[in-house]
Amino acid sequence: MLRPDFIGTRNDVFLCHCEPKAWQSLTEIRVFQTNLKKLDFTLTNSYILFGVMKLEISEKLQSRLVPETKVVVLTGAGISAESGVPTFRGKEGLWKKFRPEELATFEAFMANPKLVWEWYQYRRKLLEQVKPNLGHKALVDFQKFFKGFTLITQNVDGLHQKAGSFDIVELHGNIKRNRCISCGKIFESLKNLKEKNPPLCDCGGRIRPDVVWFGEMLPQDALQKAFFVSSNCELFFSIGTSAVVHPAASLPIMAKRGGAYLIEVNIEPTELSFITDEKLLGKAGEILPEIVKLFRKNSQKDM
Ligand code: OAD
Repeated sequence: MLRPDFIGTRNDVFLCHCEPKAWQSLTEIRVFQTNLKKLDFTLTNSYILFGVMKLEISEKLQSRLVPETKVVVLTGAGISAESGVPTFRGKEGLWKKFRPEELATFEAFMANPKLVWEWYQYRRKLLEQVKPNLGHKALVDFQKFFKGFTLITQNVDGLHQKAGSFDIVELHGNIKRNRCISCGKIFESLKNLKEKNPPLCDCGGRIRPDVVWFGEMLPQDALQKAFFVSSNCELFFSIGTSAVVHPAASLPIMAKRGGAYLIEVNIEPTELSFITDEKLLGKAGEILPEIVKLFRKNSQKDM
């Protein structure tokens, strides 16, 4: 049977990639009609737009949207995509344009500190111009609503903090912060972002961005907290991550093993999808506010 490859959603339209000839086979198209609210397909080049997707939130998930549920959220680059921050993988991903081994390893920094520093200064400037989106903001509401809530992020962009989330477990550090490679002194933010070379610490050591590079250990306190809350939660959301970089990618698996109900929010299926209890396909900035609306409605009913 011919099945067009699923490639993602665009706005509220479910987008599939399909050989031009295959779409003419109406029986194949009908396979996809069952989930659709409205069927309205058109052919553009080799894309078929499969109509308007309706976000279905199951009874099982709804029943868990109460303040007493212990909730953990893990976010990745996808949650910041709608703010204009590039993701790492995928067609437009940073690792398609830049080589991580030249920019995101300690060896690269030591071999060419200027190049690595410039790349981080460039990303810092980019981040100064972006704002949190509706997905980040919805997670602030999650934190207010659920009594036991932990936000874990792989992102270094600081957008969760800008939105108003707090006590965030930052697994990969924070791009604003810097650290001396010799004495470990932390510099919360360096004012001179124009500096082309990494500045030196008072001790003479070179200052580097306080982010986790390839081959480096994650901050142990953050990792331990992440392991603990993930193994002990009841509801786990994996949002906007390709779930391929460990140990972060093992957190949803741990949660599932610990008995949590596992939800994935992503514009496309990932490595994790095969073990999730529910996949909410679409943009985080569209899906998360819908979940907030739901738990607000439910809590009003209870009053
Ligand atoms: P990736 O770039 O690997 O994955 C981003 C994910 O977000 C993909 O699965 C996209 O489908 C999804 N996505 C894109 N836009 C979205 C949207 N609007 N709503 C929901 N999902 C969306 O980024 P990460 O999984 O975060 O590590 O990558 C993990 C780590 O790899 C990063 O922290 C970084 C990188 O190398 C370090 O720098 C140490």
